[in-house]
Amino acid sequence: MLIPDFIFYLGIRVIISVLSDWHNKIMKRAEQLQKLSREHHGSLVMAKNIAEIAESGSDADLLEAIKTVAEYYDDELELHFQHEERTIFSLIFGEYREHIAIATTLLKEHGFIRMLIPKLTLETARIDLAEFALVLKNHTRMEERELFPIIEELFSDEQLDAILDFVPLD
Ligand SMILES: [Fe+2]
Repeated sequence: MLIPDFIFYLGIRVIISVLSDWHNKIMKRAEQLQKLSREHHGSLVMAKNIAEIAESGSDADLLEAIKTVAEYYDDELELHFQHEERTIFSLIFGEYREHIAIATTLLKEHGFIRMLIPKLTLETARIDLAEFALVLKNHTRMEERELFPIIEELFSDEQLDAILDFVPLD
């Protein structure tokens, strides 16, 4: 049976419109997670540098690395953790409880890093910095590869916008 031309073209237009909406949504979602993803890239670079110093740096390098890590934590990482905890983890614990396991693992790693940073000293720096670098690397990869796809699939536009619009507490 022949389909009248106007119905055929109407169908094509509907398909194009649906695909276009889907494309816009993906682009928008990527935009909403972009700041956190940029910070994740910084975390992976930091983890790589610190791992190298922990493995073969001199004492002076280790002291410098302790200072670098402490400044990085104060200037960026703590805020990054709070950003995720207040706009992502809190929603998983409240609304998307089927993903509590991954949120709990990631939250524990935030806690581990928070406890480790103030304890860094030259005496244990080689072991502790190596541990910091390893946890930060694996943690960041898990967020990018496992957590963010879950967010993109489940979070509403309003919930995604709240990630973008996050303002840290004073
Ligand atoms: Fe993160």
